[in-house]
Amino acid sequence: MSDSQTLAEGLGIERAAAPAVIVIFGASGDLTRRKLMPALQNLMVRDQLAAGTSIVGVGRSDLGDEGFRQRMADAVQAAAGDGEVDQRAWTELEAGLHYVSGGYDDVATYKRLAELIEDLDRDRGTSGNRLYYLSTPPGVFADVVGQLGSVGLHRPATGGEFARVVIEKPFGRDLDSARALDHRLHEVLDEDQLYRIDHYLGKETVQNVLALRFANSIFEPVWNRRYVESVQITVAESEGVGHRAGFYEDAGALRDIMQNHLLQVLALTAMEPPATMSPKGIRDEKVKALGAVDLLDRTEVAAEVVRGQYRTGWVGGTQVPGYHEEEGVAADSRTETYLAMRLHIDNWRWAGVPFYLRTGKCLPRRVTEVALQFSGVPHLPFASTQVTELGPNALVLRIQPDEGITLRFGAKVPGQAFDVRSVSMDFSYGAAFAEEPPEAYERLLLDALLGDPTLFIRSDEVEQAWRIVQPLLDAWAQDGAPPAGYDAGTWGPVEADQLLEAGGHHWRRP
Ligand code: BG6
Repeated sequence: MSDSQTLAEGLGIERAAAPAVIVIFGASGDLTRRKLMPALQNLMVRDQLAAGTSIVGVGRSDLGDEGFRQRMADAVQAAAGDGEVDQRAWTELEAGLHYVSGGYDDVATYKRLAELIEDLDRDRGTSGNRLYYLSTPPGVFADVVGQLGSVGLHRPATGGEFARVVIEKPFGRDLDSARALDHRLHEVLDEDQLYRIDHYLGKETVQNVLALRFANSIFEPVWNRRYVESVQITVAESEGVGHRAGFYEDAGALRDIMQNHLLQVLALTAMEPPATMSPKGIRDEKVKALGAVDLLDRTEVAAEVVRGQYRTGWVGGTQVPGYHEEEGVAADSRTETYLAMRLHIDNWRWAGVPFYLRTGKCLPRRVTEVALQFSGVPHLPFASTQVTELGPNALVLRIQPDEGITLRFGAKVPGQAFDVRSVSMDFSYGAAFAEEPPEAYERLLLDALLGDPTLFIRSDEVEQAWRIVQPLLDAWAQDGAPPAGYDAGTWGPVEADQLLEAGGHHWRRP
């Protein structure tokens, strides 16, 4: 996609990818089974993948072609639930499924891969196009890309149009390692070959933040410090860490959610209107918004950030273990499973408006939302007894579940008195549109195949995001305090409530 083409134009046309070999590194892992393979099957069902598209799994386990096909068949069936798997699409995909086992740092793995891809280009008409998906542990991203380069797989074959690399998060462990990783990747690849994925950007309702803001004239005039008093962005999960302690112990809520999903939603909420919906237009504005975030210093981290860790408790009527009791978690682990912070964006639009961000596991509900709370009226001409149930005006973008938008405002309570109470006006995606939106990974895989990087993270965006969270890592490395405890099934530590109360605010209880 050239930069003069736009996301909006892209959405308007029937989108279908050219034939390609899709190589998934880390193919025996959870993501391939739960998300990638079902997404590819759905794309094939809708004829958005070309016939001949071939999928090669690469992994350390020795699955063999047959073992891999069986796993993928199970994955597609599991995603269909009780429904029927579309056999036409599955047969087409299955015929192009292969598996290469070997170490990620072993050149022999890549030589075998190169031979296989050559055969597929010849036998299945994949035309020299390659899409590599790095779903491995982050520690091997640079090795994989380096080895692709060493056998010449980092470029399309003769006659092909593209060789692109999709990289899962987390991109680096901190600012320095993210820069170092970027440097190593750029030794082999150009920036326009790199697709750093954040699946939140593939969610329809996250994209709708752009539609709501920039396709309407009624919201933008109030989307600033003159009318908005504070903003809350929540990514809450009711699940605990589950079987992912191996990954999570090292990541925590900061690297798992805050540095990527939450800051991406923040960037879309806070950015200036782009001149066009082109990849450059949108990503330039996001970088500017992230770049305007006021960085905390060490003492400010103590005052503006709360980290927590869940204790045993009850979520949805089920008793769940505390984080320390989870399998694979160190007895003295200080990994945060909850994080809340207040930050400010130093520009004309947002000066003085606190942005409250929070994320956590084992909270009462799975909910992601952006809530803008508006300032009060200049003068409230009612007796205090008439407005006891009147709260501030708020606009809530419900990203998931129950996708939609809620506007809260005051209305007169019917009757002889003149009491005013807050009411909600709800827009629901499900009710307004008959179409089922594509799953985030479907959207993003197709974008990567089509060469549309708009919903992927550019190098400078990653850097800006790390710049914002780096002071937290630095402060925690020096401060001996463990995260505050919270009971699973509650909305986080009391310290997080105090963080807002100090500013005269309260967390929403969605
Ligand atoms: C992933 C995190 O990126 O996002 C997980 O690694 C988290 O820890 C998940 O559970 C949440 O995604 P979603 O789409 O379910 O909100």
